[in-house]
Amino acid sequence: MKYQSQKVAIPYFIGALTLFFGQIVFGLIAGFQYLDGSFLFPALPFDVVRMSHTNLLIVWLLMSFMGAAYYIVPEEAQTELYSPKLALITFWVFLTAAVLTILSYLFIPYAHLAALTGNAALPTMGRGYLEQPLPTKVGIVLVALSLLFNVTMTLIKGRKTTINWILVGSLWGLALLFLPAFYFPEDTVKASFAWWWVVHGWVEGDWELILGALLGFILIKMTGVDREIVEKWLYIIVAMTLISGIIGIGHHYYYTGAPAYWIWLGSIFSILEPIPFMLLIAFSFKMLMQRRREHPNKAAMLWALGTPIMAFLGAGVWGLMITLAPAQYYMHGTNFTAAHGHLAFFGAYVMISLSIISYAMPLLRGRLANSAAAQRWEITGFWVMVLSMLVIALALTGAGIVTVILQRAADHPMSFMQVEGKARVFFWVREVAGFSFFAGLLIYLRSFFITGDYEYTSEIKQALAR
Ligand code: HEM
Ligand code: HEM
Ligand SMILES: [Fe+2]
Repeated sequence: MKYQSQKVAIPYFIGALTLFFGQIVFGLIAGFQYLDGSFLFPALPFDVVRMSHTNLLIVWLLMSFMGAAYYIVPEEAQTELYSPKLALITFWVFLTAAVLTILSYLFIPYAHLAALTGNAALPTMGRGYLEQPLPTKVGIVLVALSLLFNVTMTLIKGRKTTINWILVGSLWGLALLFLPAFYFPEDTVKASFAWWWVVHGWVEGDWELILGALLGFILIKMTGVDREIVEKWLYIIVAMTLISGIIGIGHHYYYTGAPAYWIWLGSIFSILEPIPFMLLIAFSFKMLMQRRREHPNKAAMLWALGTPIMAFLGAGVWGLMITLAPAQYYMHGTNFTAAHGHLAFFGAYVMISLSIISYAMPLLRGRLANSAAAQRWEITGFWVMVLSMLVIALALTGAGIVTVILQRAADHPMSFMQVEGKARVFFWVREVAGFSFFAGLLIYLRSFFITGDYEYTSEIKQALAR
């Protein structure tokens, strides 16, 4: 850590990890309700649990991106953050809004919540991931504006690096792409368009740029490779993301009432979408090979190399599997989608968040790297979470295959509930792997409580001095 004001990232990272914990608890409850439909009913119905699970995911990822921005932008700009105080106030506003929103889901029936919060005046509630009541959505905009003001002012007064341009630019994109959430017309075709623009404009466009900037920053710091080389890679990755992602979102317009040419456009451009993820893998391993120092934070390096691989699997491979129009015709909305959703969100955005936290937290706590013991806990947490998530995705893929064979593509389709019964073994596997994921998370969190600095060998000391 080079600038005092970077410290405001600490509450953001801790807040994000706390909400992550909550997200997984709700995931486990939702997964168990698949096995016993009466579990916790009527106190916590499935729709409420599911909404809490997905909303906590989005909110904690946003919180960690913000923490990352408050950490990275000053260091790249070589100047203190414009207003650390504003960043801290914003954190508390954001956390309070997030917690109140989840509590309101849990304790107020959704329709009452809608009536209470002015949804009649400006309807926004009800679409997946965007279920938040109007005041929360307005709050998200205010929090985003505060962040944008702060980081943009910092960028203006300091050094302007490519990483900072991409990071600050994509944070602006993130905020702008949230605006269609306020457009919820009665025409369901138009409403669907606006919905995809937010959620998939984020995950298949804008957030990929954030991922690139964060990974670029971590790799520059850890490998000591020249900035110019990293920047060249980032330009290509940004270009490929935008070329493939913007029109690639057309894979959501098939058979929805949008013009038929989207069947071709969506299919062709979304085939290209795995390319930026492949480039991210090539980029990070190239940086590893060209490294000019051995950074003692092995755990952070593992996260940074694991991220592009898992992102490629989840978004690239599992995305490609379901993206062509003839495939969507059968697979739309089955557990294939959930398999892809889990692996892609985890591989790309959960893992890049944990990468930057892994790199920055030791520095924020006054050391270059955690003790070897703490890193062992963290690395164990990495493997348990990654392997469990792969099992979750495979189980959901199995459930997807059952649905397609017995229902979607069958001459005599079985009813929905019959099919769910046939896929039951896969829901068991998902739940067991879910518990193992939770264990991995606990192991990972435990690593933060093992204190101590890394014990530097003379070799590493020499390398660091160079
Ligand atoms: C990290 C990037 C990505 C993330 C986090 C992500 C996440 C998701 C999620 C959560 C859904 C489910 C949406 C819902 O209905 O609730 C979804 C749907 C979909 N994704 Fe992705 N995705 C990513 C990248 C990709 C890529 C690169 C492709 C194509 C190659 C793709 C293809 C699709 C398709 C076709 C659907 C629609 C499935 C359906 O409606 O049944 N995604 N994605
Ligand atoms: C960091 C890890 C996780 C991420 C990123 C994640 C992400 C998601 C996403 C994006 C969805 C919406 C999927 C869609 O609509 O296609 C979802 C739903 C769900 N998740 Fe997770 N999840 C995680 C961990 C877990 C765990 C550990 C469990 C426990 C078994 C779990 C159980 C569920 C269930 C049951 C649903 C509802 C699926 C449905 O509606 O059929 N998740 N999760
Ligand atoms: Fe998409």
